[in-house]
Amino acid sequence: MTAKQSLLSKLPPDLDRHRLPKHVAVIMDGNGRWANRQGLARIMGHGQGADSLKDLLRCCQDWGIPALTAYAFSTENWQRPLEEVEFLMTLIERVLRRELAQMQEENVKIRFVGDLSQLPLSLQEEIERSMRETQDNRGVQFTVATNYGGRQEILQACRAIAAQVKQGKIDVDGIDEQLFEKQLYTAGIPHPDLLIRTSGEMRISNFLLWQMAYAEIYVTNTTWPDFTREDFHQALIAYQQRDRRFGKI
Ligand code: IPE
Ligand code: IPE
Ligand code: MG
Repeated sequence: MTAKQSLLSKLPPDLDRHRLPKHVAVIMDGNGRWANRQGLARIMGHGQGADSLKDLLRCCQDWGIPALTAYAFSTENWQRPLEEVEFLMTLIERVLRRELAQMQEENVKIRFVGDLSQLPLSLQEEIERSMRETQDNRGVQFTVATNYGGRQEILQACRAIAAQVKQGKIDVDGIDEQLFEKQLYTAGIPHPDLLIRTSGEMRISNFLLWQMAYAEIYVTNTTWPDFTREDFHQALIAYQQRDRRFGKI
């Protein structure tokens, strides 16, 4: 932890602890640009980015934010050069193997969402192990979106529901939001209150399309490997200044 971060080991006093988001989602963008800026290969940015995520998870524990979801790999990211895709798959597996014991100790409950069946087998095994070993933990609920696409998630939910209708298990009129949510990868996880995207891009990039319906969106120009507790602090200040109306007046 850097000196700057250790200053923020407790919730900054200008934040109202009763009005913190219960669930923060983050689009960790800008790893490649960060690396290029330093004259490094793009993959170096991903390695640094993993450290930013590790500290954000710890920060959520320290500041009392119960759920964090991170976008690690989108269904569209397969279109990147093979070496980069392979590096990312290996990185996720390596970080998971390295960090699981500590996450266990800190009572983190980890869950992966996305089409996991397309991931390398060794990664699938590590994912299953991490979810199994932490399933009863009651600390931060940490969700990692890997081979995740919001459209694909909605489509597979439609297929599952259509199959149940066909089998006569449910009636078309019985399809409501609650039933639909049960078929999403994120079933049981509350919707994000705050979405943070780093690196300046103002788009959702197929992330949590259904779940994001009323999330507050915060975009920072900071690239993900540079994202610190101070950036998170700023995002939370902005969040607490928002008026969440949910369609009311
Ligand atoms: C985000 O950083 C990480 C992943 C998408 C896996 P990028 O790799 O998209 O970095 P930029 O956006 O090209 O700078
Ligand atoms: C979104 O970032 C996906 C992840 C952070 C995993 P991208 O870099 O893939 O998004 P686009 O291509 O800029 O929309
Ligand atoms: Mg990007």
